[in-house]
Amino acid sequence: MTTHPPFLATLQEDLRAARDHDPAARSLLEVALGYPGVHAVWVYRLAHRMWQVPALRLAARLLSQATRSATGVEIHPGAVLGRRLFIDHGMGVVVGETAVVGDDVVLFHGATLGGTSMRHGKRHPTLGDRVVVGAGAKVLGPVWVGDDARIGANAVVIRDVPPDSTAVGVPATVRRRPAPVPPFVAEVDDPAIYI
Ligand SMILES: CC(C)(COP(=O)(O)OP(=O)(O)OC[C@H]1O[C@@H](n2cnc3c(N)ncnc32)[C@H](O)[C@@H]1OP(=O)(O)O)[C@@H](O)C(=O)NCCC(=O)NCCS
Repeated sequence: MTTHPPFLATLQEDLRAARDHDPAARSLLEVALGYPGVHAVWVYRLAHRMWQVPALRLAARLLSQATRSATGVEIHPGAVLGRRLFIDHGMGVVVGETAVVGDDVVLFHGATLGGTSMRHGKRHPTLGDRVVVGAGAKVLGPVWVGDDARIGANAVVIRDVPPDSTAVGVPATVRRRPAPVPPFVAEVDDPAIYI
């Protein structure tokens, strides 16, 4: 995950990410006015800043809940979300308190980054960069989803998913693994062959 640019620039990036990911989006104005997933991410960015100040944590939670009522997207202000997150369609998305999400991630409606235990501490997933979580998919527990992985619609992920792979089904299994990397063969001239 990269460092964050100034606040307004981050919001502009979120806007452009939505326009770039959604072929149905015709203009930035349309996205800014009509995309609840973008509104939810924008408010999260403010609520997350408030969350860093202990005295503002209750206000951050209430802001997050008010946004849930308006957008159908519930993002806990303690979650750590990367840049250019796009939540398509919005409704029904839940992101838990200890979830970590990389850059350029797409979550479709109904995606849940949830916990499986009531204990404090890390209990929600960690998603790498450029992960896509399909509609209705649940990623549960402190599992890790590697960069460029894709989670199929309605999958239930309860184990780690390797980078560059596709996981589908209940419970999710990896259907398409990354192509194996050919073994590295060092081209080193052995001086002995010239003797
Ligand atoms: C998982 C996904 C990314 C795979 O896409 P893909 O690489 O094109 O893969 P394919 O369609 O070739 O499917 C590969 C295999 O997974 C299966 N599969 C694909 N999506 C699946 C799903 N959501 N649940 C269960 N199985 C699925 C296919 O049947 C196929 O099985 P097979 O190898 O036995 O024939 C895609 O199907 C998906 O679910 N994307 C989510 C998109 C979404 O939520 N859109 C909402 C828009 S509103």
